[in-house]
Amino acid sequence: MLVKLKVNGELRSADVPPETTLLKMLREDLGLTGAKLGCDVGDCGTCTVIVDGESVNSCLMLAAKANGRDVTTIEGLATSAELHPLQKSFEELGALQCGFCGPGMLMSAKNLLEKNPEPTVFEIRDALSGNLCRCTGYSKIIEAIQDAGRAMSASAT
Ligand code: FES
Ligand code: FES
Repeated sequence: MLVKLKVNGELRSADVPPETTLLKMLREDLGLTGAKLGCDVGDCGTCTVIVDGESVNSCLMLAAKANGRDVTTIEGLATSAELHPLQKSFEELGALQCGFCGPGMLMSAKNLLEKNPEPTVFEIRDALSGNLCRCTGYSKIIEAIQDAGRAMSASAT
């Protein structure tokens, strides 16, 4: 079936079998390999992307269900001119180690900050509850998200 999406502001399409997940379509048909395949069952969050303003596990969503919708992946986070404030804060504060969880963490964090620019630690933990990290212990990640939120609020005023 032909699936058409708006991905990172660009119209993209692919002819895929009906059982194809959004993650598989992004990675294998559209060449967007930033979202990672971890558990493939909705437990780890490495595949997180934003669909119509909501974080989703793209390993659990059929590509067909995303037809006609607006999808943002990690490739759409930075502009050609500069990194997103979240990417800057994660880098500056050393919030990632192996980085495998990074794309999913960043997309969940972006979705949170767009709705709530100055979240509490509890709200950040809640927003990241579907994103597992095996390396960092989460403290630096939470600090980086708060730092990015402050930077985004300051640049908006
Ligand atoms: Fe999708 Fe783990 S790969 S939640
Ligand atoms: Fe390794 Fe998060 S930095 S899984």
